[in-house]
Amino acid sequence: MSDTDETQLEARLADQTEFEPPESFVEQANVTDPDIYEEFEENWPDCWERAADLLDWETDHDEVLVDDDEPFYEWFVGGELNASENCVDRHLEDRGDELAIQWEGELGETRSYTYEELHREVNECAAALRDLGVGEDDIVTMYMPMVPELPIAMLACARIGAPHSVVFAGFSADALATRMNAADSEYLVTCDGYYRRGDGLDHISKANEGLEGVDHETTTVVVDRLGDDLDHELGDDQLDYDDLVADYEGESVEPVVRDAEDMLFLMYTSGTTGKPKGVKHTTGGYLSYAAWTSHSVLDVKPDDTYWCSADIGWITGHSYIVYGPLALGTTTVMYEGTPDYPDKDRMWEIVENYEVDQLYTAPTAIRAFMKWGEEYPEQHDLSSLRLLGTVGEPINPKAWKWYYKHIGNESCPIVDTWWQTETGGMMITTLPGIATMKPGSAGPPLPGIDAQVVDESGEEVAPGEAGYVTVNKPWPGMLRTLYRNDDRFINEYWEAYSDEEADEWVYFPEDGAKIDDDGYITILGRVDDVINVSGHRLGTMEIESAVVDVEGVAEAAAVGGDHDMKGEAVYTYVILEDGYEESEEMRQSIVEGVEDGIGPIARPEQVIFTPELPKTRSGKIMRRLLEDIANDDDLGNTSTLRNPDIVDDIQEKVRSD
Ligand code: WT7
Repeated sequence: MSDTDETQLEARLADQTEFEPPESFVEQANVTDPDIYEEFEENWPDCWERAADLLDWETDHDEVLVDDDEPFYEWFVGGELNASENCVDRHLEDRGDELAIQWEGELGETRSYTYEELHREVNECAAALRDLGVGEDDIVTMYMPMVPELPIAMLACARIGAPHSVVFAGFSADALATRMNAADSEYLVTCDGYYRRGDGLDHISKANEGLEGVDHETTTVVVDRLGDDLDHELGDDQLDYDDLVADYEGESVEPVVRDAEDMLFLMYTSGTTGKPKGVKHTTGGYLSYAAWTSHSVLDVKPDDTYWCSADIGWITGHSYIVYGPLALGTTTVMYEGTPDYPDKDRMWEIVENYEVDQLYTAPTAIRAFMKWGEEYPEQHDLSSLRLLGTVGEPINPKAWKWYYKHIGNESCPIVDTWWQTETGGMMITTLPGIATMKPGSAGPPLPGIDAQVVDESGEEVAPGEAGYVTVNKPWPGMLRTLYRNDDRFINEYWEAYSDEEADEWVYFPEDGAKIDDDGYITILGRVDDVINVSGHRLGTMEIESAVVDVEGVAEAAAVGGDHDMKGEAVYTYVILEDGYEESEEMRQSIVEGVEDGIGPIARPEQVIFTPELPKTRSGKIMRRLLEDIANDDDLGNTSTLRNPDIVDDIQEKVRSD
């Protein structure tokens, strides 16, 4: 942004703390009646029929909610449906010739699928997978970049009742192996590679390396994305996707009837302790919730062209690129590459070309757009946009206002949506056709969501005071358990605030927050040992174990420090073994160790060598202190440490680096 422009924006928008939904938006919004909050409260849990009604059911449910065995809630019990039928088949009659997926590759090539074409692809893939031996409830892992075969394979799995487990393509070989082992997954769908900044990137070698770490037999299907740009040879248990599917041309597969509570997919996410958690989502509750929030918050209508710029490898892409939009029969845009290739206006070119109606992206991306300057969006006609959304991390008011003005032309509502992998869909955000927007604050809980901000003892805090988010009632999109680990499910999410004796179950998302007089919640960030880098969730323990695996490292601590663009960045403090010395090579091998162990997104911003880590008298590493050092914040009293002297030395190092 130029200085003069920034001053003008500052002057006009800086002091404005509240924004009303634009009239033009309200007139056409899917949800406009403010009584919806009251209606949901009064009719809870039956209010959730409204979500279930957005789907086609093979058999209607007998009960909306069964809570005999809390916190193992069951939704739409007795109901039967198939997710691929809901996302594809049921649109054929009215929308068979309309676009379901509009894909654009990084190099500019495009592929589009009408609902009719998507139906054909999904059926052929489903037939192929079924003949490979994939049966109902077999978990199929997908380790794929943003290619159309990814949603096609997901829907094909849903069609035959096989849950998928998608592993983000940017994750490492180790991460793939860990997830396939944890889920006993015998099938992998992957890809030879993809384009990044114009270059063909090898992905299959990483997949193969991961497979070496899988402790059981596997069958792999490989999509050929790069053609001649990457020669790859298939192993004995590997098949080429196109060759395989070609044998099933025109084949159709009857969608398997699934119980509402049957698993639709698993998604592994990071938590406080070492191993990733396998979050289990169901067919009926999850799909209803993804459809309902796409309808009420993203205002998706069948005729829209809707774009969520996330990666399908994360929950955002599952709920809001694939399941929500397709359940509603709209056109969902998928883009393979980076936002600055070939130039920094790529996103705006896509919005203009496809006349995108809604754009849903991350604050970290908006901060990058801001830094690149408004001259990039200005080169394009963005007038098709009707609604903007953000997700993944808090958005600072300055970035919010930039997005509002330079992308939304002050005529699109912005929804700042707070939710998690575990919640399946949005939980706290404004309804765009109803509520006043307050930049920096996500908004009130959605209708039917009983979220609060409480202190350590579970009492609601006064407006303005910092506390923790809790959710006091279940909702259809919630995770049902952690795969094969019910105990951990209870420990992680329910133990902190529930009163088992009184049978009061409270979900704890592990986020700090505050609330204002109008009930608007501002999220302050994670309170567990999770680092949020560019809206991506990374466990400190996972990073630390990758660092400790590097030869010569004795002990390590990883913390999140503030970062202008990424929100948070990884800082690692490292103690070397005797005989190893601090050096550029050592630093490099630690950085590589983290990239290999987790993925490039976890790449440490700084590696700080130290002879000791600050510890409490009981021997616990003082993470908060290490965070304060990374942020160059005031450290307060450090005299209660076992080794207070080390603090100055570490601080000195961080500052001089
Ligand atoms: C964590 C969940 C939700 C899909 C993407 C991330 C943070 C998410 C917001 C927001 C402030 C947010 C929270 C949450 N977060 N959305 N609008 N404002 N913080 O899913 O990887 O499961 O991470 O992301 O800290 O707990 P996830």
